[in-house]
Amino acid sequence: GKFDVVVVGSCMTDLVSYVPRLPKAGETIHGTKFSMGFGGKGANQCIMAARLGAKTAMVAKVGDDSFGERYIENFKRNGVNTDHVSVAREASTGVAPIAVNASGENSIVIVSGANDLLSEGDVKNAKSMIASASVCVCQLEINPEVTHFTLSLAKKAGVQTILNPAPASAWLDYYYYRLSDVFCANESEAELLTGLSVNTVDDAEKAVIMILERGAGQAVITLGSKGSVIGTQENPIPKHIPVTPADPVDSTGAGDAFIGAMAFYMAKFKMLPFEEIVRRAGEIARTSVLNPGTQSSYLSKKELSPSLFSELVQRGR
Ligand code: RIB
Ligand code: NA
Repeated sequence: GKFDVVVVGSCMTDLVSYVPRLPKAGETIHGTKFSMGFGGKGANQCIMAARLGAKTAMVAKVGDDSFGERYIENFKRNGVNTDHVSVAREASTGVAPIAVNASGENSIVIVSGANDLLSEGDVKNAKSMIASASVCVCQLEINPEVTHFTLSLAKKAGVQTILNPAPASAWLDYYYYRLSDVFCANESEAELLTGLSVNTVDDAEKAVIMILERGAGQAVITLGSKGSVIGTQENPIPKHIPVTPADPVDSTGAGDAFIGAMAFYMAKFKMLPFEEIVRRAGEIARTSVLNPGTQSSYLSKKELSPSLFSELVQRGR
């Protein structure tokens, strides 16, 4: 049947250590807590969209191991279609050792494993599923050529595309921008891609203009507690979208919550102005930083304020 959101991307098992501060090179420090969770940027974004009520499917690759088996069960528990989550015999399920400090900031190592084996052939096999979707979401945690192939396929089928250029890379060919209806990066990704330093709203406005010049339909730069900055081809004058303040416990995966929520709104709330989609996605991502872990911190529709699911734009904020 028809899908709201199809994500072509990564699955990782997150190995999270909570530490008073992030260790320096060559240093050993004591952590205070350890937990394992379901992560990977692609899967996180898909699970967020699913918890909000989107009909979702994932195109991904796991290893032939217990992490992979558990991951597929996790998708099923969350109502995500796994017809195109395949199992590689040649590599293990991706893992991500993560350290989270006392202010909720993280540093992440990813070992892609099976994610690197997701191929154009796998995406071709999922072609009719992708073509049936309202929104197709990609990141850069799989082979970037496979992401390119997916974006082209989705575009040709008239599916709205979102590209989250994460993890950050210093250069991205312009065709990635041109194939993105929405191009959404955080500060550090935007810095690497544009060569500008991106710390303030003013900086982000400049980066948004560059991203639009490179051909993205709509550009979003997320700025954590400072909200985000958007611009579109129709209205390239950048606009700051603030977010309600929060006292973060663990910001890991907040960017993925934002992308997953945007995909949900683009598929299910087509009548909302882009600015309002981004504002609501920011509020949903904010709720994820209040709890530990990535997917473990994503709330579902019934736990969120009904105003986030209203067809109306509230005035006077
Ligand atoms: O964006 C957060 C995610 O990045 C984590 O879940 C980790 O798996 C890495 O992919
Ligand atoms: Na979190």
